[in-house]
Amino acid sequence: MIQIRINDTPIGALEGSTILQAARQAGIHIPTLCFLEKRDPVGACRVCLVEVEGARTLLAACSTPCTDGMVVRVNSRRARLARRQVVELLLSEHDGNCQLCERNEDCELRKLASDMGIQTVTYGGTRAAAKRDESTPGLVRDNAKCIKCRRCVTVCSQVQGVGALFPQGRGFATVIGPAFAGDLDGVTCVQCGQCAAVCPVGAISEHSQTDAVWQALDDPAKTVIVQTAPAIRAALGEEFGYPPGTRVTGKMVTALRQMGFDAVFDTNFAADLTILEEGTELLTRLKRALVDKDPAAALPMFTSCSPGWINFAEYYYPNFLDHLSTCKSPQQMFGAVAKTYYAQKIGQKPEDLVVVSVMPCTAKKF
Ligand code: FES
Repeated sequence: MIQIRINDTPIGALEGSTILQAARQAGIHIPTLCFLEKRDPVGACRVCLVEVEGARTLLAACSTPCTDGMVVRVNSRRARLARRQVVELLLSEHDGNCQLCERNEDCELRKLASDMGIQTVTYGGTRAAAKRDESTPGLVRDNAKCIKCRRCVTVCSQVQGVGALFPQGRGFATVIGPAFAGDLDGVTCVQCGQCAAVCPVGAISEHSQTDAVWQALDDPAKTVIVQTAPAIRAALGEEFGYPPGTRVTGKMVTALRQMGFDAVFDTNFAADLTILEEGTELLTRLKRALVDKDPAAALPMFTSCSPGWINFAEYYYPNFLDHLSTCKSPQQMFGAVAKTYYAQKIGQKPEDLVVVSVMPCTAKKF
């Protein structure tokens, strides 16, 4: 342990920890934007600037290691004004069409500006070049909103191991996106949506099908049914302010019925079908391998309900494809069963039956 002082409070910090880590442990707030928990700091945004006694310049708290005896001032006038200026500069480039933005209610840049009392965009002038990429079923990218914090780059390369997004160009002309400033459908993006989950603004978001669902619900000629993934019951509760993990299954089903869905199903049912199908497939492969001595039986067998995982295997490990189960995911199995068995059971033509999935994953749209 080493001893440092932050805002005149003595703090014991682990050797090698950063100012930000020490401050968070002591319950002292330092604003951040590009920083992602458990990832190497990139120090791109400078929103976390603090004053350190004896240092020539202000330092980024997320990437500056603590040293014994260090004296840090988070809220000195110099640090506060610098952070404010950083946010003002970010706002000057950002397409702040907040009322119409997907992230309207939970934009981190908007919250920072409001916390700092910024009410006008101080610096006018040129904004980032607009380019909207709607080429993929799961994700929409909007470069005019990108603040180049690189969180998406970090999660895509360091966590997912994909590397579909990266910074290109220099200075003001820097663009974050797929290679050669192309579209996402031209690269090996697996549509996992982690970039959208970590984007602090609305630069990458889920491709919404909400209008199409309302259109189907409004059409009296259609029977519209919905399947909900298990995670949804808890995720919805959290959105409505319940403690994380609270299940709101009953409320969710009632809400879906009140919206006009003709029937509400749980994807769990199709997960049981998946297990039976996959179990049968595994037994067949085992018999081929052990009884028939067939070297092409491809064992071990891998399965995943995640289309993102399957995309990843297809793009990056094609040599293992023989080992993947041929079964559809529960979501896809449900769609197939609904359009055949269920449609027949309720006397509806498959083309007049609309199946909506509420899922926790953008790759399901793919
Ligand atoms: Fe430290 Fe961005 S959060 S530089």
